[in-house]
Amino acid sequence: MAKKSDVKGAFLTDIQTLRKRAREHIEKGAVTPGYKADRDTVIRILNEALATEIVCVLRYKRHYFMANGINAQSVAQEFLQHANEEQMHADEIAARIVQLGGEPNFSPEGLATRSHAEYVEGDSLIDMIKEDLVAERIAIDSYREMIEYLGNNDSTTRRMLEGILAMEEEHADDLASLLEELGA
Ligand SMILES: [Fe+2]
Ligand SMILES: [Fe+2]
Repeated sequence: MAKKSDVKGAFLTDIQTLRKRAREHIEKGAVTPGYKADRDTVIRILNEALATEIVCVLRYKRHYFMANGINAQSVAQEFLQHANEEQMHADEIAARIVQLGGEPNFSPEGLATRSHAEYVEGDSLIDMIKEDLVAERIAIDSYREMIEYLGNNDSTTRRMLEGILAMEEEHADDLASLLEELGA
């Protein structure tokens, strides 16, 4: 176990121990012995989040092209912007999985099952917006749970998820405003 210094600042690991520990298992890169979260669980939930983001990209892309077809340019642009932002989230999450020593799961097999949110095509513009809003609300709750689960055990992952959560909240707000404007 790490020796704690018994002088001032007793909660800090002493310098010698810190230096020695850093030299052990250097193949683990950013994951040091001080990493407190359950790495396998974190990688698993991040892969579920990755699947969710990919499904959201696909759904928003479908909605973007369909809305374009029915001459709803401003709504289509909103869908496209969300699609691009969900893609950014997917990339951030995949990069963090690798940093934690895991592998991002991009397999199309089982994608819809791994995802929290659903892929619903929607028959009308209003339907599409409603389905996107439902998906965002699912994402908001699942990110919030992940953040609570991580607590102070992996602050880097938590901060990343907090950033994503804030954007999902913006997305949900955008969609709710669109519904209102369209009188739905
Ligand atoms: Fe997202
Ligand atoms: Fe979103």
